Amino acid sequence: MSCKIAVLAGDGIGPEIMLEAERVLACLQQAFGFAVEIERDLIGGAGLDRDGVPLPESTLRLAQAADAVLLGAVGGPKWELLEPRLRPEQGLLGIRQALGLFSNLRPAILFPQLADASSLKPELVAGLDLMIVRELTGGIYFGEPRGIEGETGARRGFNTLVYSESEIERIGRSAFDIAMRRGRRLCSVDKANVLESTMLWREVMTALGADYPEVELSHMYVDNAAMQLVRAPKQFDVIVTTNMFGDILSDCAAMLTGSIGMLPSASLDRAGKGLYEPVHGSAPDIAGQGLANPLAVLLSLAMMLRYSLDQAPLADQLEAAVGVVLDSGLRTADIAGQGEAVSTSEMGQAVVAQLRRQAEQV
Ligand code: IPM
Ligand code: MG
Repeated sequence: MSCKIAVLAGDGIGPEIMLEAERVLACLQQAFGFAVEIERDLIGGAGLDRDGVPLPESTLRLAQAADAVLLGAVGGPKWELLEPRLRPEQGLLGIRQALGLFSNLRPAILFPQLADASSLKPELVAGLDLMIVRELTGGIYFGEPRGIEGETGARRGFNTLVYSESEIERIGRSAFDIAMRRGRRLCSVDKANVLESTMLWREVMTALGADYPEVELSHMYVDNAAMQLVRAPKQFDVIVTTNMFGDILSDCAAMLTGSIGMLPSASLDRAGKGLYEPVHGSAPDIAGQGLANPLAVLLSLAMMLRYSLDQAPLADQLEAAVGVVLDSGLRTADIAGQGEAVSTSEMGQAVVAQLRRQAEQV
């Protein structure tokens, strides 16, 4: 039985980094005997240009039929002035909701080879390895009512922040399970001193804690959490939080590692099916120039192998290959500092070459 992967390159640097991911998949197939089938379709601005919608029906059907989805990035200035429901971002929000991908895992790992790339002092970030678990299909992103109403000059814009107990419980379980597989410390981030929805969040998380006696549960207000992330980030193991707080804190955590160009993410449903994407966006300013770092999408692929395809040994091989390539000093522009930079495809090819060497040793 072969694994079916839906590849949605999207916009901006999406297509060029995805080319490297496909090279790596081909190598895993040839050199390691990994049985995989790839099918491609459009999302975001690319979907808009072809079908007039950011999430074409064919794309959704492909994603639903696949074992896992690998996504590049969506968005760009070309589509920025469209009405909200036609923005490329709606493709991403739509596929998350349609596939029920409620649990978004965003690791922030500092590769020892890149300690200098962080804007924080090396001793504050050396060895950093934290995981943000962001609720992804609820909260203020999807709450109703929402809209802009009234006469020009007197209009009101409004959104609704709402969480049900069952939504909080399922993201809570997801986070506790992950904490059990890591350092067994979970920090739930809320604004329970002001917002009722997150008062309930805190109550449900606390009650869930009784089912996980081995996990040390703590709570933190989001403003303090933002401060602690840049003050002493290594105090965290796993953070669980709402959709919007997770959006903000995960960008902050990403930058602790020096380059958002290195970070993968997974969005999972109840059954462990998932969509995997780099945390960086479509970076339209550097698109098409071979400057993008393909390592985030390659590490996203490694997460896919581990979390959705039951191929942990291949994930280990891929992550090891990335480590060796970094050890060898190869850097794309985003992590090169003052040093010399290689192109997107040179980086991708170096990972493939290293994987082939590793395959000979298996
Ligand atoms: C993210 C992005 C998206 C989000 C946007 C592009 C809709 O910022 O994945 O973090 O807010 O979820
Ligand atoms: Mg974001």
